[in-house]
Amino acid sequence: MPNLSVELLPGLKLKNPVIAASGTAGYGDEPDRLYDIADLGAFICKGTTLKPRAGNPQPRIMETPYGMLNAIGLQNPGVEAVIEKYSPLWRQWPTPVIVNIAADSVEEYASLARRLDGIPGIAALEINISCPNVKAGCLEFGSTPESAATVTAAVKQAVSLPIIIKLTPNTADIAALARAVEKAGADAVSLINTLRGMAISVKNRKPVLGNITGGLSGPAIKPVALAMVWQVAGAVSIPIIGGGGIMSAEDALEFIMAGASAVEVGTAALVNPQAPLDIINGLDAYLRQHNLNDLACLTGAAR
Ligand SMILES: Cc1cc2nc3c(=O)[nH]c(=O)nc-3n(C[C@H](O)[C@H](O)[C@H](O)COP(=O)(O)O)c2cc1C
Repeated sequence: MPNLSVELLPGLKLKNPVIAASGTAGYGDEPDRLYDIADLGAFICKGTTLKPRAGNPQPRIMETPYGMLNAIGLQNPGVEAVIEKYSPLWRQWPTPVIVNIAADSVEEYASLARRLDGIPGIAALEINISCPNVKAGCLEFGSTPESAATVTAAVKQAVSLPIIIKLTPNTADIAALARAVEKAGADAVSLINTLRGMAISVKNRKPVLGNITGGLSGPAIKPVALAMVWQVAGAVSIPIIGGGGIMSAEDALEFIMAGASAVEVGTAALVNPQAPLDIINGLDAYLRQHNLNDLACLTGAAR
């Protein structure tokens, strides 16, 4: 049996590198009804904020050729409800759960992270400084190296959990962002979040999305995401979780060969909820076909 496992961070071992991306599988209870969540490498929950958020006005999603636009606006029940409702469930899973967090200020990122630190069932935090769909906060902190580093340092100081900083493609130089958060204490980076985009209804002569703009995801963004992972892999030495448009095992392998240790799968699971499992099986098949024992030997293989 080929070894698909990945030691993503000290003490955070994944049985395979496939991670359910934030916002595309809720809190895990829904996908767990469709397949065994224990088969995933890890699971990342919907972006969680200190207070409940109602999200953006409808419509919030739209299909595009080769992808989709979303402007959910971080709808979530707030950290207290997430802890109360989902941590008892997560505690029972063998799959590591990573909580994705977003906030309006540096202090709020730190206090939200502190609230989650030490809660049983939470293996790491993914710090979302890259959501393009909210008016204040989030991307505001993630688009310059200075502010990204400030958030990273504040969260790092507040917690003992490992922190993964989720980077935006909506920036001039993603490698500079990655270097800044590495220096500020990030344990890993994940990339990319969605690319800002929009659509206009020519019938209504109005933007389609209630928020006007949204985030583009799916196969359309894969080449952009892959180039960014390649760039970041040349810039930092912390682990990289790559993603953006991964639909197949072959796509996942491209990210791994560009330098990612693990991958996030999002939009693919909205088309086919079993997609992450198909990708895991495809990785296993690739290793067998090529007589390879260990997936880890492919990280950065194309460099
Ligand atoms: C409907 C939807 C909701 C999302 N919500 C979040 C979120 O709450 N936090 C976050 O960091 N990323 C969120 N994302 C971004 C995804 O986690 C992922 O980074 C992005 O969609 C690119 O990967 P993909 O092309 O595989 O979907 C969301 C994406 C979609 C499509």
